[in-house]
Amino acid sequence: MIYIANWKMHGNSRDIESLNPIIKLSKQKKYRNIKLVYCPPYTLLDLMKRKFINSKIHVGAQNCHFNSEYGAFTGSINSKMLKSIGTKYVIIGHSENRTDGDNDLIINKKIKSALQENLKVILCIGETLFEKRKKLTKKILKKQIKNSLYKVKKVENIIFAYEPRWAIGTGIIPKTKTLTKNIIDIKKILISVNKKLNSAKILYGGSVNSQNVKEIVKIKGIDGFLVGGASLNSKKFIDIIKKSIN
Ligand code: 13P
Repeated sequence: MIYIANWKMHGNSRDIESLNPIIKLSKQKKYRNIKLVYCPPYTLLDLMKRKFINSKIHVGAQNCHFNSEYGAFTGSINSKMLKSIGTKYVIIGHSENRTDGDNDLIINKKIKSALQENLKVILCIGETLFEKRKKLTKKILKKQIKNSLYKVKKVENIIFAYEPRWAIGTGIIPKTKTLTKNIIDIKKILISVNKKLNSAKILYGGSVNSQNVKEIVKIKGIDGFLVGGASLNSKKFIDIIKKSIN
């Protein structure tokens, strides 16, 4: 199982101390085989990486610029810069960035530049509420996956996160039946796009908490979780891990 904490635009240097319990958990025998990744804002990547130095917890960025080279892109950070400070993962195509203008073409360029730097990509996909109501979910997922992976070579370095956009931060999660179907669809689409993706990891994200995780984890094909709000608090994040492992 893979657990990814997405802190979004939260946290400052004082919050680093709050990670002690999760470091402790990561060293327990029972949790030896889980993969833990923290994606803080850029400002905390280096500090967090140092904090995790004697543990197996990795750090990831929440985004990167599509340009692989340095250049005149005020306020941006590219994958080369992320790599240089020991970042292992990068989230690409998050719903909040799609809302801010990221489209499949930009996402495709970001993936290529991240893979070029040997970063592992966490690619977010998911439909809006409008698309869900119009029964377009499968079509949208197919479009997002196909376009994002266009001429991408090292696909085995991509983890997929299914995050229905209407489930993010709303406290609403998909019905078990719907989620089961969507995960099956994603798996089929991935294999149809590239056979190498038959063992790709698929995470679920969107309003995951320690209560609902017990149900979601039972769904076949879900290999972990991408957690927003509940990951800001170590205790809540640990609860999610414990409830889904037991
Ligand atoms: P929430 O867990 O706060 O709904 O956020 C999910 C998310 O966007 C993770 O990337």
